[in-house]
Amino acid sequence: MPKPYSQVAPSIDVHLQPDWARIALERDVRRALTVKPRVLPPKWFYDARGSALFHQITQLKEYYPTETERRILAQQAATIVDLSGAETLIELGSGTSDKTRVLLDAFTQRNQLQRFVPFDVSEAPLRQAMDTLGLQYPHLSLRGIVGDFTQHLGLLPTGGRRLIAFLGGTIGNFYPEERQIFLENVARTLQPGDGLLLGTDLIKDPVRLVAAYDDPGGVTAEFNLNALHVINRTLGANFDVTAWEHVALWDAEHEWMDLRVQSKRLQSVHVHALDLTVSFETGDWIQTEISTKFRQERVQQELTSAGFDSVTSWTDPAGDFNLSLALR
Ligand code: SAH
Ligand code: TRP
Repeated sequence: MPKPYSQVAPSIDVHLQPDWARIALERDVRRALTVKPRVLPPKWFYDARGSALFHQITQLKEYYPTETERRILAQQAATIVDLSGAETLIELGSGTSDKTRVLLDAFTQRNQLQRFVPFDVSEAPLRQAMDTLGLQYPHLSLRGIVGDFTQHLGLLPTGGRRLIAFLGGTIGNFYPEERQIFLENVARTLQPGDGLLLGTDLIKDPVRLVAAYDDPGGVTAEFNLNALHVINRTLGANFDVTAWEHVALWDAEHEWMDLRVQSKRLQSVHVHALDLTVSFETGDWIQTEISTKFRQERVQQELTSAGFDSVTSWTDPAGDFNLSLALR
């Protein structure tokens, strides 16, 4: 099998300008603090500290998605390799690319994959992941991309059969309209024969769902409140983080977990970069994330209507998590 990319040193393309975070965050925070309901997009959790906290979340016994998805991946890896026929694996929202190694190992056994492209908005974990991946998979061309997957899908490398992996249930963090646009954009970016491997969390007992997003040790609370630290640092705001609490609710109507930071007292916050002061009453909240839980049929139907042709789905025996391979 030819290996045209081998011996190429790992590289990272940073597509976010140095002031990107400040400019994009200014716009998002202005909207979050002046328009009700107050909603902040979830990409702002993931500075170096937030990414490390998320990694801790994935190791909590209450947070079942990571290990469940890893088990499904391990069980289906050979099938995924065969069905996708991929020469390039692209991972969106790759984080530590920890579970992805299960796939990389299966691809390595078939000697089929040439290139791995982890793509994340957060540069620190991406660099860290690439350092280990480079040692573990020396035969692969490693091409990291620092970008925003809601804006920069046009930057994905082309050529050869491609598989895009979008794991961890991150798709559930989009609102429904955004999700549809995102899936259509992914389908449009891919060529016939290319595929999308999508992890989605499934609806289950709300008690387990709430526990997964509100652990007794408070790691999830730290992670959620980290968005306020990011705003303080990036925009010169003075959120007193101790005056806010983490709230995790099951929204049965929308079938999503509703994550908020909620004000514990009457207070006002000044955001220097926006020249804006906002006051909050006790109980006022900012929604920092939704995490949608799916039914398997809905995932299949959304993939098909986004423009994918054939969809194969797998779940664990308890039906906690779903993995779908959709081919263009
Ligand atoms: N795929 C990993 C990580 C999931 S956490 C897993 O399954 O465990 C979500 C990841 O998506 C984080 O690494 C975060 O930095 C990244 N992310 C969030 N919003 C993003 C965006 N708009 N563009 C690119 N990456 C994003
Ligand atoms: N993408 C993860 C999820 O939807 C992110 C996450 C896990 C999260 N725990 C959280 C976001 C707590 C906010 C608060 O499961």
